[in-house]
Amino acid sequence: MPDAFTIDISDGIAVIRFDLPGEKVNKLTTGVVAELEQLIGRLESESGIDGAVIVSGKEDNFIAGADISEIETIVSPAEGARLSEQGQGVLERLEQLPFPVVAAINGACLGGGLELALACNYRLATDSPKTVLGLPETSLGIIPGFGGTQRLPRLVGIKEALRMITTGAKVYPKKAWRIGLVNDVAAKERLMEAAGRFISSHGETGKKTKKTSWKSRGLVALLFESNKFGRNFLFDKARQAVRRKVGDHYPAPFAAIDAIEDGFKHGLKEGFASEAHLLGEMAVTDTSKNLIKVFRLRERFSHVEKAPAGYISSVAVIGAGAMGGAIAALVAENGMKVRLVDMSTKALGKALRAVYSTVEKKKNKGIYSSTDAAWIPSRISCDTMMRGLKRTDVVIEAVVESMDVKRSVLADLAAATREDTIIVSNTSSLSISEMAGAVPDAWRVAGMHFFNPVDRMQLVEVVRGEKTSDLTVRIVTALTKRLGKMPIVVKDSPGFLVNRLLLPYLNEAARLLEDGVGVEPVDEAMLEFGMPMGAFILLDVVGLDIASHVCENLQQGFGERMRPSTILAAMRDEGRLGKKSGKGFYRYDKKGKRQSDSGLKKVLLPHVRDNLKLEEQSIIDRLILPMINEAALALEEAVVEGPEAVDAAMIFGAGFPAFTGGLLRYADSLGIPRVVKDLEKLTELHGERFKPSGLLIEMAQNAKSFYSL
Ligand code: NAI
Repeated sequence: MPDAFTIDISDGIAVIRFDLPGEKVNKLTTGVVAELEQLIGRLESESGIDGAVIVSGKEDNFIAGADISEIETIVSPAEGARLSEQGQGVLERLEQLPFPVVAAINGACLGGGLELALACNYRLATDSPKTVLGLPETSLGIIPGFGGTQRLPRLVGIKEALRMITTGAKVYPKKAWRIGLVNDVAAKERLMEAAGRFISSHGETGKKTKKTSWKSRGLVALLFESNKFGRNFLFDKARQAVRRKVGDHYPAPFAAIDAIEDGFKHGLKEGFASEAHLLGEMAVTDTSKNLIKVFRLRERFSHVEKAPAGYISSVAVIGAGAMGGAIAALVAENGMKVRLVDMSTKALGKALRAVYSTVEKKKNKGIYSSTDAAWIPSRISCDTMMRGLKRTDVVIEAVVESMDVKRSVLADLAAATREDTIIVSNTSSLSISEMAGAVPDAWRVAGMHFFNPVDRMQLVEVVRGEKTSDLTVRIVTALTKRLGKMPIVVKDSPGFLVNRLLLPYLNEAARLLEDGVGVEPVDEAMLEFGMPMGAFILLDVVGLDIASHVCENLQQGFGERMRPSTILAAMRDEGRLGKKSGKGFYRYDKKGKRQSDSGLKKVLLPHVRDNLKLEEQSIIDRLILPMINEAALALEEAVVEGPEAVDAAMIFGAGFPAFTGGLLRYADSLGIPRVVKDLEKLTELHGERFKPSGLLIEMAQNAKSFYSL
């Protein structure tokens, strides 16, 4: 037994403190569940207890969930079902205790943690921004297995529970209260007092206050949830929504809907049994095993060394355009002061308005308190000149993508800042080393390549130039982490990593058009593969001007294999820049809604040289295999440290489908000899750009894979 619980009984109230030794967060391991069962046994036989409160001994964490390493090692559905039944049994005993139990939640209350709280009579949450509640199991390819699929819909309603469980969405305290997930929200210092109040009022009324009333859930909920037909409608809608969002690549959300439906069709007992059975089934799928590996990737790249003491308290951002404005907002949202400089007051005003609007939206969602909402914009100060930067620790440059402009900005920054201020550039395609030549102490210059949209994309490529010092890399990775992003360190080489892999993919899609394959078949094939959007939709989002520019840069760096399809320049020259200009490979209406465009044919026709009819898998191979090949070349050149970095970068920076485990795990699952054979075939058919890299050939010859390098 891990010795995770202590119990303190005074004045008839038992305070159960959960503090898993040696861990930063509380987890429900098998040992913890067994200890909890023993403790419940003790409480069952103890007399004179009027109520119990479960609290956490951890700083900002109630319970993070089940132990992922235990889920990872499940080898059979029966074993998974057994683990689920054990947990269900213990929580059922908790639920049946003869006195009220309150979960006093401060910090993350996720997965098994929320399932434990759901088995309590009352749930109270602190108003801290660190307090979030949710059942994120489906994002690990499994389903809640400790009764969550049964208790949650009965507490907050089927519609809300379906949303929370199928998307894994986290709920903040204000909303949790509104939907009836928690009974009250209190300041951290007031939590125990509030818990005491619930216990004594429970004693007075004797009610087992568990369900929220129909009234609070609204008339529509009553209409749909109180009868079989309405419920069937909700389950069908939920299945359609999941299919629309992720296709059929992720079985867990569907399994969760089945478990919830079984509980309503056949009763609670059957519901619990269905949950345990389906958890077992899901835990052994390749999808779940891969998603857990992706979870580990996220953990691995989020652990970075802290910046030296004193760094980093103030940041400046130069350029208040699309990227600079969003970066400044991110810095302020993460508690740091930021000076935003742009020569255009219009750009500064637009950036500030965007900050106010984002903060307001988050306040309405309950993510920020009114105080946070007031503080965040006040951390941003604006200027049209680079002055007063002597106290700035890190400057992030995000002006237009031109080497001359950037070098001149960097030279000015070198003079305007302290000698040890770190200067980073958000360039997406220019050489950091060349740019750093404009600064006398090039050791303090690095790249910090954010992805668009900044608030949603998790990855930041930290680019090490030829002269960038280790200290600089350490400070920039620490800042990235502080901004809640994932840093991956890459060598200063054309396209860094993500664009180097992504642009050949997009370019190859355009080359398929030259071969006579249509826009829609390519996009449908890529969606079928699991990409979040079709290749041409992505090109329209990126912008044909930017895509052509990056491709041209890559061609300069890598030669013929990166030669852009003539279609990219033709589209750009026709003013078909993509979504921003209302037309690209598709046409967009004022609201951004996409339609096919009959006018496209005229632009493409002069470039079409063939009339190929390709099967879906051939389209997928033609676009994905060059990415694998390019990744192998980048590894040979030590652009990144290993296959994990490639997979993390492509998932978190380019939306590569997580259920595959990443680009190189996907390559391993195909088998490297098959990858090499197919690349050789493509070389014969379409030219040298498909020629397999030396690393791939060597791996195929020695029966190696990326993860057994
Ligand atoms: P933008 O054109 O929206 O903004 C650039 C801003 O810089 C403008 O507001 C302009 O007034 C300002 N500016 C230009 N010269 C200046 C100077 N000397 N001093 C102060 N301000 C100056 O450009 P965007 O899209 O924000 O891109 C900025 C940088 O971020 C570029 O290097 C780009 O390659 C990079 N990037 C862009 C991404 C995107 O999707 N837009 C993604 C990742 C990186």
